[in-house]
Amino acid sequence: MRNERLHIGFCLSATWLRGQAASPSDAGRDLPSWYGELACRAETACLDFVFKPDALFFHPAMCRGALALDGVDPTLLMAAIAAQTQRIGLVTTLSTTFVPPYVAARQLMSLHWLSQGRAGWNIVTALDGAANFGAQPMPDADKRYRKAAEMTALVRALWRSYPHEAIASGEGIRAVDHQGAFFQCQGPLNLPAYPLSEPVLMQAGASDTGRTFAASVAQATFAATPDMEAGIELCADLKHRARLQGRAPGDIRVLPGLHFFLGRTREEAHDRHRNAFAGIGVEQRLQSLYTAVGLDARALAPDARVDAALLPPAGTPVRSRTHAQLLRAFIARERPTLRELLERPELVGSAHWVAVGTAEDVADDVAAWFNARAMDGFVALPGGGAQSVDLFFAELVPELARRGLLRQRYSGRTLREHLMED
Ligand SMILES: Cc1cc2nc3c(=O)[nH]c(=O)nc-3n(C[C@H](O)[C@H](O)[C@H](O)COP(=O)(O)O)c2cc1C
Repeated sequence: MRNERLHIGFCLSATWLRGQAASPSDAGRDLPSWYGELACRAETACLDFVFKPDALFFHPAMCRGALALDGVDPTLLMAAIAAQTQRIGLVTTLSTTFVPPYVAARQLMSLHWLSQGRAGWNIVTALDGAANFGAQPMPDADKRYRKAAEMTALVRALWRSYPHEAIASGEGIRAVDHQGAFFQCQGPLNLPAYPLSEPVLMQAGASDTGRTFAASVAQATFAATPDMEAGIELCADLKHRARLQGRAPGDIRVLPGLHFFLGRTREEAHDRHRNAFAGIGVEQRLQSLYTAVGLDARALAPDARVDAALLPPAGTPVRSRTHAQLLRAFIARERPTLRELLERPELVGSAHWVAVGTAEDVADDVAAWFNARAMDGFVALPGGGAQSVDLFFAELVPELARRGLLRQRYSGRTLREHLMED
């Protein structure tokens, strides 16, 4: 069954502050209130969840024009937000490459209890950070996915090792006795299962291996789809793969990031969009192109066409196969000039769908993607400063509700119920 309404998550990483002057007031920011207020606005809007991506490394360049405190641990943050909200889902990010399964299982089930069934786990295999765990170099992507599959199965086994009914009867608690290629774990977990349902699993990473993994376990995928073609292809493919694994197409919700720049007028929105990326110079964009697909384009003129023949052979090792595939597909399809290529969201952002305009313009884009089956909803990634966030809640959300695309009250209590609602 196709959902009739959008499933929307709101990203709490301060994406809207990128490209803005860093604020000295960050140092004294009241974090619980700052994040809590955003989560409450998302809850008033009846969104499915708030979400925070995560990285377990830090390059000093990352803090330029961003919230200095963005590195706050997302699971602890969600526990603080749980106390300030009642209905909205809380999706944290934990890396399967670095976090031990017993710790992950316990933290997630703790968040689930603390929020009364609203926890979600964004499962990431991570792109960097090995140096912080005595694990250099980063294992290759397929090895990371084998570890992710083993860890996810083990975490779920731990959640089931202490059934809820055992709280009363003391019966049914069992060891997991896991001896795998990556982990050994005896169990059981020291926390019983929450009664209504397990934490929701979300996944990010869309290589062939990543898609098979998502289709086997995830209730949602956080996707990077810079154009509608990419969304249609991913949606159809993930639902097909889910069917092959005995699941229904509606069991996995495809939620691309939507990086929006809203203005009261189109001019204002386009100014916000331009300003957000103005600080990213040509050198940095060329470096991103090299990192993404291994193409050194420094000698090319801005108006030279870039076509597939210029690319290194497919399969050349890259940082992220998801991002490399998106960019290779765009180059093969469009033969862009170098100037056009260097504007792409794969190079200046995180490869997310970008929408710029008034709330009505962006609502039109959202409706077009939904009608074309390019997504089941989206993860809101505001860009262009606090005014863009304000317009999201004050104008875009009500516009989507007016069009019948968004729930106007919660019918369920758990995140799983929100996501599975048609
Ligand atoms: C949309 C998207 C969001 C991601 N978010 C995170 C994240 O928050 N933290 C992280 O460590 N890795 C993140 N990743 C990286 C993935 O977990 C994965 O390591 C990477 O995409 C490589 O997988 P692939 O071979 O399937 O491309 C993200 C990837 C994508 C596509």
